[in-house]
Amino acid sequence: MSYEIAVVPGDGIGQEVTPAALEVLSALPVEFTFREARAGDHVAEETGDPLPAETYELAASTDATLFGAAGERAADVILPLREAVGSFVNVRPARAYPGVDALRPETDLVFLRENTEGVYAGHESRLTDDVSTLTRVVTGSASRQLAAFACEYVADGDHDGFTIAHKANVMRETDGRFLETVREVADERGVDTDDVLMDAFATQVCLDPTAFDVVVCPNLAGDVLSDLAAGLVGGLGMLPSANVGTERGLFEPVHGSAPDIAGEGVANPVAAILSAAMLVEFLGHEDAGERVRTAVEGVLADGPRTPDLGGDASTTGLTDAVVDRL
Ligand code: NAI
Ligand code: MG
Repeated sequence: MSYEIAVVPGDGIGQEVTPAALEVLSALPVEFTFREARAGDHVAEETGDPLPAETYELAASTDATLFGAAGERAADVILPLREAVGSFVNVRPARAYPGVDALRPETDLVFLRENTEGVYAGHESRLTDDVSTLTRVVTGSASRQLAAFACEYVADGDHDGFTIAHKANVMRETDGRFLETVREVADERGVDTDDVLMDAFATQVCLDPTAFDVVVCPNLAGDVLSDLAAGLVGGLGMLPSANVGTERGLFEPVHGSAPDIAGEGVANPVAAILSAAMLVEFLGHEDAGERVRTAVEGVLADGPRTPDLGGDASTTGLTDAVVDRL
């Protein structure tokens, strides 16, 4: 059987790290048919619209989507694409690898970020010349779906439970509902939880990342706190993610289009390659995903490494080394 994969490289270094991920996927004993589609600032410049309908429809109908990065119009691209695959959770592992000069080499975290609502639900308005407002949406149903996923995630991965990061002391109604609902589902399923205020989490995770394991959080908190964790493990070039839905998923590095290094051929492809590993695992090929991770681990330990990791390798140099190990 051949899986049909939508491939959306997007803007900037998305154009450089997505081919790296495709090379790695092609080196695996799994059959893929790749269908490339366009999105991003460069498309908006031509047509006014950063996300062509064909791209949305392709993501909504293929087995999975591999995404690179978008630029200034990122929100108009990635939010609809996550919706196209029906994603309700963004899984973001933040792990330090031997050989990478990380601020906190002992870091091994996974963020499970709510992926449909919160402050990213898109309800913003300009009331007057002076006042703008945003409506934050938290539903019991989305919180329950996220919590059920988190319970299965910790059971499958042999984790002791999870931590809920929130700000229910201030956003009593919205984060109050989030905290209560997630905790309730975990209790029903016999999964241990604790909780932490998200601002306190930001400090504690820097001082001692081993105090946490799986962290469940609302949309914005997951976005910000996972970037913070990227800083602990060697930078944004290291963080993959999986936008998981009930039937399909979209896999993308956490980083953006990195205009400061785009076109130079030096972007770190590890985040994109590890996202591809999450894609094959999502399709049920756990062994293939593990092989990719082991190959990446070996290359990070022995080199070659890209400049963000202190090396002088190019994107293709690091990618070729991963493919050689596969
Ligand atoms: P960014 O993630 O693009 O870059 C932040 C810093 O990290 C830059 O110094 C960049 O060079 C470095 N970096 C990121 N990925 C790297 C990699 N693979 N290898 C080496 N260095 C890497 O975030 P920034 O600068 O805030 O945003 C740039 C553009 O990307 C903006 O237009 C923003 O809207 C967009 N963006 C898109 C996202 C997406 O498509 N999902 C997510 C975040 C930002
Ligand atoms: Mg982000």
